[in-house]
Formats: sequence, C-alpha cells, structure tokens
Amino acid sequence: MTKIIAFESSADETSVAVVEDGHIVLSNSVATQINSHQRFGGIVPEVASRHHIEWITRVLDDALAQAQVKPSDLDAVAVTYGPGLVGSLLVGLMGAKTFALAHDLPIIPVNHLAGHISAANFNQPIVYPAMALMVSGGHTELVLMTSENKFEVLGETRDDAAGESFDKVGRLLKLPYPAGKTIDEMAHRGKATIKFPTAMAHEDNYDFSFSGLKSAVINYVHHAEQKQETINQDDLATSFQNAVVDALIGRTERALRHYPVKSFVLAGGVAANSQLRESLTTLLNDFNDTIFIPVPLTYTGDNAAMIGAAGYWNYKQNIFADLDLNTDPGLDF
Ligand code: KG4
Ligand code: ZN
Repeated sequence: MTKIIAFESSADETSVAVVEDGHIVLSNSVATQINSHQRFGGIVPEVASRHHIEWITRVLDDALAQAQVKPSDLDAVAVTYGPGLVGSLLVGLMGAKTFALAHDLPIIPVNHLAGHISAANFNQPIVYPAMALMVSGGHTELVLMTSENKFEVLGETRDDAAGESFDKVGRLLKLPYPAGKTIDEMAHRGKATIKFPTAMAHEDNYDFSFSGLKSAVINYVHHAEQKQETINQDDLATSFQNAVVDALIGRTERALRHYPVKSFVLAGGVAANSQLRESLTTLLNDFNDTIFIPVPLTYTGDNAAMIGAAGYWNYKQNIFADLDLNTDPGLDF
C-alpha cells in the first residue's frame, strides 16, 4: 500500500490530502478563499498568496489528523508545480518541500491538469485508451490518453476557457464569483428563449472558442438595457448554458467517432455542471464500448486528493523531483 500526501495551492484553494494507492482518499482538507475574492469579481493573486500562507499548516495538520496517519506512515509527497498563479503555487511547493525534507520523503511533481483527470479514479478506474474533457476556469482541453500519464491534446480553447465564460457572464449579470454553479441553478428554472451562436460548429477540428458567445451575451444585455427592457435572467442562463454545452458535446462527439476509446472522463470545475453531465451521459449511450467516468462531484473543483491520485501515476513511473523543483505557471500537458 502506497500512501501519498499531496499539496495543492495553484489558485484559490489551499488543500492537503492523503491518498492510498491513487484511489482511496484517506483525507482531503480544503480551505477556500472565495469570500475574499468575491468583491473583486475574480482571484486577486496577492490576496490569494497571503491566504495560502495563512492556511497551509492548518490544512496540513487537519489532513494528517483526518487520515489518522503519522509522517512515518507516508511514502512520498506530491505537489502541484503548475499551471497556476506563481505566488500561489510557491506556497504549496514550499510547504511540500519542507515536509519532504523534514521527514525524508521523496517529492513527486504533479501537473494540475493531470490531477483533475486522475480524480476520475475516485469514481472507477480509468480504462485505456481513454479520452478526457477537462473543463475548468482556466482550461478547456480534449485529450487522448493511451495510458496513465500519457496525454495527447486533440483540441483546446482558442480564447476563453469554458468556466471563464460562465464567470464572465455571471459578472455581467452581477452574480457572485465564481458564477458557474449559480448559472447552472438558474438554467434549471429558465427556458431557452434566446438563440446564441455555437462557435466553430462547422470547423473540421476539435478546438473550442467561447469569446464569440460571451460577446453575443454582452450585446444582448446591452441592447436590452438601451431599450430599457427587463431581461429574464433565468432564460438568459438557460440559453447561454445550452450554447456552451452544445459546443462541448459537438466536439466531443466528433472526437469519439474518430478515436474509439474504452472510457471517457469528464473533469475540472465545470464538470460539476448538471446539464453537461446529463448530455454526456446521453451521448455516451450511443457508444457501447465506451464507459463514461465523470469525476465525482466532491472532487471536480480544485483539491489535493486529485494531486495524490496523479502523484501515484508518477510514483509508479519513478518520476520524482529534487528540492530545487520550481513552479511552472504556464505548464500544459
Ligand atoms: O477546476 P476549478 O475548480 O478551478 C480551476 O482550475 O480553474 O474550476 C473552477 C471553474 C469556475 O469557472 C466555476 O465557475 C466553474 O468551474 N464551475 C461551474 C460549475 N461549478 C463550478 N461551471 C458550470 N457549472 C457548474 N455547476
Ligand atoms: Zn483546477
């Protein structure tokens, strides 16, 4: 049995977890700082770093206590080194290095994006070849995986990330940040009365684009304001969310037809979206040889348990780092 302690601090969640064999979560302590950023309508990097410093040791103590393990029970320390905000990443990295040095444990460098995807193993084991749709506040990626840790990017966003488009529309509607969950709830109440464009639906690739949709929503709202018409925000939410989900589903379907895979993973913060989960379930019904493995709702947002899961992939492949490991804020697959 391999026990890995994992550190995650790439954005606005400070988290430490203990994970056994890459799929059994012994503890997952998460401190969120959303309240501090809400009045700014987005993450303020300087504020985020300060929060991480304040919380990291508390979250660490909590994760060890919850898991009922001592440092001597652990086999390795996994840590997110990118992508993310440099000041935020540094705090988790320093915490992980200090812990590793103090307890003579090896360090495993983990890519945050791989972490999101590996969290599907908390649902059921990913079978390969696999395809993953990773949709978060900063990324929208469709990737092919031939085995654990082997990623080939099929398509990605050319402008805004899917989650970013939810957050920007939320800001326009004066909803609290981040707005994905709120828009998801509003969309349940509304009707799809407005026709928004689904970007690049006819282009022969697997890329995404959400900035045109965002502009269409902005134009719609400004136009209504000029004419002093009231907007039904729920209908707007439904119509906008339909357009996002259509774009994601369209590309996914095309990719699945081209690359037959044994499993399909849905990961990242936007993977919590109820309509996206539902539409993918329906789509995957047409692909008998592909199992749908969405990341469990508890682990779609940023957390350290997922870093422990991806850390285990690296552990098995002997991918370790020295104490001079640095952050890589622009890290990709
Ligand atoms: O993965 P995550 O927690 O952080 C990043 O690595 O970016 O993703 C956060 C994003 C935010 O943009 C948030 O609005 C979005 O996930 N999100 C949702 C939902 N819940 C969170 N988007 C749509 N529907 C949801 N239910
Ligand atoms: Zn994330």
